Amino acid sequence: MNLKRTAITCFGLLTFTSFLMAQSEFVPNYDENEVPEYTLPDPLDGISEASAWPTKRKEILTLIEREMFGRAPAFDGKTIAAAAGPEPFTILDGKATVTQVVLTIAGQDVALLVFLPSSATQPVPAFLGYNFHGNHTVFADDRISLTKSWVRKTENHRASEDDRGSSASRWSVERIIDAGYGLVTLYYGEVDPDFHDEFKNGVHAAFAPPKEDAWGSIAAWAWGLSRVLDYLEQESMGIDPQKVGVFGHSRLGKTSLWAGATDERFALVISNNSGCGGAALSKRAFGETVGRITRVFPHWFCARFNQYRENEVKLPFDQHMLLALMAPRPLYVASAVEDRWADPRGEFLSCVGADPVYRLLGTEGLPQQEMPGVNAPVMGRIGYHLRTGKHDVTDYDWEQYITFAKKHF
Ligand code: GCU
Repeated sequence: MNLKRTAITCFGLLTFTSFLMAQSEFVPNYDENEVPEYTLPDPLDGISEASAWPTKRKEILTLIEREMFGRAPAFDGKTIAAAAGPEPFTILDGKATVTQVVLTIAGQDVALLVFLPSSATQPVPAFLGYNFHGNHTVFADDRISLTKSWVRKTENHRASEDDRGSSASRWSVERIIDAGYGLVTLYYGEVDPDFHDEFKNGVHAAFAPPKEDAWGSIAAWAWGLSRVLDYLEQESMGIDPQKVGVFGHSRLGKTSLWAGATDERFALVISNNSGCGGAALSKRAFGETVGRITRVFPHWFCARFNQYRENEVKLPFDQHMLLALMAPRPLYVASAVEDRWADPRGEFLSCVGADPVYRLLGTEGLPQQEMPGVNAPVMGRIGYHLRTGKHDVTDYDWEQYITFAKKHF
């Protein structure tokens, strides 16, 4: 057999084996006694002066980018053009004003849905986050435009009138407005549709990706959030761009963390139930693992991340180092008791692992090293809570995010 044919056969076998593994049933470990022994790399790795952190930070950022999320292309700042959306209108008895604007980001039309307190007399701090199913699902109002992009849940993958307000319980719009904050949300599928197509659709299409460390979808979504912040810096829209907290749930929580890591303009970062690939430590292999996530969602990461499947011990970093990249900015990590798939303890231990960096930079960091009880939030410069219930975003979560944000801006 010649070399080429051997290579093709090996490649075929490998592909077939991964296909089989993806099909075979994955049995998550939910037993603390079965968590393998592991050692977390030290994010400070011998440095003891705050002044040495920026260089160390860059090293860690580059490492996580290369091995996990992939490199986003350089951006010349010229790909955004805004088109006015429908006329602004008020909701909640006039308390909030809703504005819609369509941005063109690297050839993709992306609609921003902006809620602002109507009484604001100057730019307000705001939360910015993606929604899972389209802007029309965030709040039930037929003046909110339906997305024309591919959507996950419906049969024909098209948004429908019936979905209006279907995710409203995840967005405490009234609570946010009453607290004096703005909310900017957009549909993640308009930036990059969430299915694997070898990085051809969404914003990926506008760039030639580098091979091995090509940016996956999480990096593309994070990049999209930075483009929205560019726009808010240009246009403001009634929002103070210096006080934008980036928020995300689940895969979009992995995204908000990566956005906060790659773009230090985000003044506050929130991870809601982000789990594996987000706040949870990979080396614990509790619940979802690197092997499982990269087989089921291969397009979220760069191909190099696959080498750590069932081999977390070889990871030269862990997710506490991702969290440390937010320092000294306020960071909030939230877990839910029934969300074992996302490994609540692993999410908390990640905060513990990031704490020394926050302390070196002269902030309070995480107030305690023991995992707090249920519904007992801790809030230092790092905040954490474990709430009752399942994998979701609830009013309770938003109550804590607002309290935390108030503490910091
Ligand atoms: C799956 C996936 C998780 C992800 C979640 C979500 O459960 O395994 O990693 O966080 O989807 O985004 O809803």
